[in-house]
Amino acid sequence: MDKIVIRGGKPLSGHVPITGAKNAALPILIATLVAPGEHRLSNVPDLVDVSSMLSLLGRIGCPSLKHGSDVRLDTTRVSFCEAPYDLVRKMRASVLALGPLLARCGEAHVSLPGGCAIGVRPIDQHLKGLEALGAEFELSGGYVHARTSGLRGAHIVLDVPTVTGTENILTAAVLARGESLIENAAREPEIIDLARFLRSLGAKIEGEGSGSIRVQGVHELKPAAEPHRILPDRIEAGTYMVAAAITGGDVTVTGVDPRDMGPVVEKLRAAGCLVELGTDRIRVQQSGDLLPVDVTTRPHPGFPTDMQAQLMALCTLAKGRSVITETIFENRFMHVPELARLGADIQVEGNRAVVTGVEGLHGATVMATDLRASASLVLAGLATEGPTEILRLYHLDRGYERLVEKLQAIGADVERVPDDLRDRIPTSLSATVA
Ligand code: EPZ
Repeated sequence: MDKIVIRGGKPLSGHVPITGAKNAALPILIATLVAPGEHRLSNVPDLVDVSSMLSLLGRIGCPSLKHGSDVRLDTTRVSFCEAPYDLVRKMRASVLALGPLLARCGEAHVSLPGGCAIGVRPIDQHLKGLEALGAEFELSGGYVHARTSGLRGAHIVLDVPTVTGTENILTAAVLARGESLIENAAREPEIIDLARFLRSLGAKIEGEGSGSIRVQGVHELKPAAEPHRILPDRIEAGTYMVAAAITGGDVTVTGVDPRDMGPVVEKLRAAGCLVELGTDRIRVQQSGDLLPVDVTTRPHPGFPTDMQAQLMALCTLAKGRSVITETIFENRFMHVPELARLGADIQVEGNRAVVTGVEGLHGATVMATDLRASASLVLAGLATEGPTEILRLYHLDRGYERLVEKLQAIGADVERVPDDLRDRIPTSLSATVA
């Protein structure tokens, strides 16, 4: 098991190339099932979750080849309509196999994803939408067993704008007989990218990103002639933008779409940062005091929950009190006790965290609990001189490609080392032990 050791307190400066979005690549990879043949994708990030999704597709009978950020995937044959527990437990996004497998094979056997650190993560809306399209479900043995004698168009109104729920339903509806209307659909940019990809296969979709998606089902879909390029990861970009702000640096993230970054840009400006938008880049400069900001997470186009932990790290050093309200997940403050170990002053009251800025943080050994919480600990470590060690790196590896190298390239003193327990015995104690 590795750990990250950071010796922070240095302003970061330079350029960070942003990779393809994890949360676009995952639904698009599994959606290739609706069009038999060879698919080509570009700008696919090198992440554990992407490897897991390619393994799942391999289990289903679809071999793939990843070379750098290019992926070739052959979905000509589907021999196994199942997403087994051993894969789903590692990556809950495997639940995205439900819609494509139902559309392709008329059946799907997907392990229930179960909860995770940030919440219960139910899939009732996924099932509600797929049932409206003509699927029947049986829950047994920890699996969802889905079957259909033929999907037909339906009018679906979601109770919550679930991102993967919208993706599951959309990917099934494209092959349903007749017209579907999905209302209260998620509006995230990753949904728009999935719709673009499905349209390149011949799907008839309109309204994606508006909250109401209209689909005319077609009889068959074919792989696109040209590779689909995965859109940039707005959460990775936001994370490095906060790295600039928290270290008082000057960092430009490149290969991004600033139109997807509105809420994060607005909060960084409110915190006192100078933020300049280019066509495919964003520059963040910070000097002087950080100002406190209040933020409430909301479905897109609101402030993204996946940036909540990162912004909280920034607020721990602001001159004043910030109030952070998490409205998407019921348990997404796991980073609070770990930030407190670094000296942060945060009081949690239900889904609100009140952050009182402190003069400075201090290094310590901290534990990553989920993907974005890990990122917030890295950001806090970058702002403090004492060495900060971050354990359980597998969380970070799921969602951040080459994090250490990218940080080193903008001046961070950060390294990834084997986590040897003996290293963690306090010197005072080891002296007495000796
Ligand atoms: C997606 O998760 C993302 N994952 C998450 O990113 C992201 O945090 C989340 O959307 C919100 O933006 C992927 O795209 C792979 P939801 P998802 O369904 O789809 C409730 C990361 O760090 N809900 O939009 O699972 C649910 O409990 C990850 O990259 C139901 O009640 O999230 C939650 O409160 C973490 N019933 C809310 O909706 C359902 O059937 C939003 O969840 C589905 C969801």
